[in-house]
Amino acid sequence: MAAKNNRFFFRHLRKWVAESHPVAASSDHSGHRKNRPTLLRLLFLLSLALSFLVLYSSSILCPFFSPSRAEEARQRKTMANPCSSVPNNSICCDRAAFRTDVCFLRGDVRSHSPSSSLFLASAIAGEQSIRPYPRKWETSVMSMVAELRLHAGGVYPNPTCDVVYSAPAVVFSTGGYTGNVFHDFNDGIIPLYLTAHHYNREVVFLILDYHKWWFSKYSELLSRLSRFPPINFSNDSRTHCFTSATVGLRIHDDLAIDPAQSPLNNSIRGFRQLLDDAYGPRIRWLDRLEAQSPAPPIHLGEANKPRLAMLLRNGSRALENEGDVVTMAEEMGFVVEVLRPEKTTELMSIYRILNGSEVMLGVHGAAMTHFLFMRPGAVILQIVPIGTEWAAETFYGSPARKMGMRYVRYRISPEESSLCREYGRDHPVVREPKRINARGWEETKRIYLDWQSVRLDLRRFRRTMERVRRVLDGSRRRRRRPEEDKEEDDQM
Ligand SMILES: *[C@@H]1O[C@H](CO)[C@@H](O)[C@H](O)[C@H]1NC(C)=O
Ligand SMILES: *[C@@H]1O[C@H](CO)[C@@H](O)[C@H](O)[C@H]1NC(C)=O
Ligand SMILES: *[C@@H]1O[C@H](CO)[C@@H](O)[C@H](O)[C@H]1NC(C)=O
Ligand SMILES: *[C@@H]1O[C@H](CO)[C@@H](O)[C@H](O)[C@H]1NC(C)=O
Ligand SMILES: *[C@@H]1O[C@H](CO)[C@@H](O)[C@H](O)[C@H]1NC(C)=O
Ligand SMILES: *[C@@H]1O[C@H](CO)[C@@H](O)[C@H](O)[C@H]1NC(C)=O
Repeated sequence: MAAKNNRFFFRHLRKWVAESHPVAASSDHSGHRKNRPTLLRLLFLLSLALSFLVLYSSSILCPFFSPSRAEEARQRKTMANPCSSVPNNSICCDRAAFRTDVCFLRGDVRSHSPSSSLFLASAIAGEQSIRPYPRKWETSVMSMVAELRLHAGGVYPNPTCDVVYSAPAVVFSTGGYTGNVFHDFNDGIIPLYLTAHHYNREVVFLILDYHKWWFSKYSELLSRLSRFPPINFSNDSRTHCFTSATVGLRIHDDLAIDPAQSPLNNSIRGFRQLLDDAYGPRIRWLDRLEAQSPAPPIHLGEANKPRLAMLLRNGSRALENEGDVVTMAEEMGFVVEVLRPEKTTELMSIYRILNGSEVMLGVHGAAMTHFLFMRPGAVILQIVPIGTEWAAETFYGSPARKMGMRYVRYRISPEESSLCREYGRDHPVVREPKRINARGWEETKRIYLDWQSVRLDLRRFRRTMERVRRVLDGSRRRRRRPEEDKEEDDQM
């Protein structure tokens, strides 16, 4: 997560856009969309006006008011996909989106890895190039992503196909920030789901910047999306022939899927179903195995207690008094399971615990991405260290609510931060995190993300935990609709 400077300039704009685009911002589970047609029309006009404004003002007048966020909002509303019907034997590139470019090739498509190219048989010559990774606005990371050239109507270097598929290809990169679990899901797995799920596994993944660990780590998920082994494009010099190809991945928002934008009828619930289908067989097998083994020590009454999964970190943003927090939670009647996800931790084992938990608790950080493994309706409790409020809300709070989770945030008081001990209560780092945030992502990361740990004030934190208990008890008595909890928040 390096060059997010831009995001700081746009966060107010984004907030404004989100507020004025309630259809896009809400995740309407019940399916009732009041006022939508008129609202849409209005928004369309509004965004049109906005994009004109932006187009003409940004480059000349106001360097900070770059088109990106407004552009994204505009494109969110104008769902028309310029490449929705690509004629045979042609290439169409949709470069209108803020986060990603996607090109479509229809017809006789052939790979040629020595020249990092795809060739398409066509009467009309044309050439495009694309870096298939959905962080288009971050030029520094994009420059490290492999580039692919798409040729239409060129002379193909090899006359024969070595491998012929009666299936399309989806081409993407696992370079960039891949390796950080937030980015793995946000820029990889969810976009891949959006782009490839509708092929019902009849699709071949052609991967640039391929890593073996990536494939092993996500193999259960990937095999639910494609029944073919993936191709390491960089060193597979065979000619692979396809019926069509999509180059680049679709993306809607941070860790979220907007069904309104999804002509393919995808939803984050559908994504969760994919997780469940992927990990279900192994989990059920383990369940059976454990049921057969000599009676595990089940404590009386535990079956009825709510399960709390605590995601803990070592190093930066560690919970210094984690032992006390566990003890307190247990005293309050939770069954606590501590998880320390690492790069090599099997996702199945994390899914198994989280899918069986009512509450997930963690300090802001990439591991919060695992909220995706919780069941809708579960409580996500995020401890928000000072200076991380924007990131905590953007990357986890808002997506969790959109997924139908009940999101609770615990904003620590300055005294609970290691920075208070380090700098003193009156230092600007502690007193005015917003001012430091305004200096950009690099500074925020350096000061608040890389160097801060948390020691919870147990009396204060207990009040939040008690509220979590009440939410859970309430939902046991009557099934609450997740929307009711939207505003549920810790404002202490
Ligand atoms: C496009 O190609 C497919 C398969 O080659 C063929 O079935 C279809 O009729 C073609 N469509 C047009 C409009 O030529
Ligand atoms: C993919 O190909 C590249 C280029 O030859 C190679 O360095 C890399 O090890 C390969 N990766 C795997 C997982 O085979
Ligand atoms: C690609 O590279 C990997 C690892 O370096 C190797 O195992 C594999 O055989 C190579 N594949 C081809 C087609 O050269
Ligand atoms: C979209 O998905 C919903 C729920 O899965 C289903 O009821 C509906 O028929 C689907 N619509 C289309 C157009 O496939
Ligand atoms: C996840 O939880 C749901 C609801 O309890 C359950 O129906 C499903 O089987 C669980 N999935 C797995 C893989 O255990
Ligand atoms: C993290 O800290 C816990 C508890 O202090 C320890 O058991 C564990 O080995 C540590 N893990 C790493 C990767 O340092």
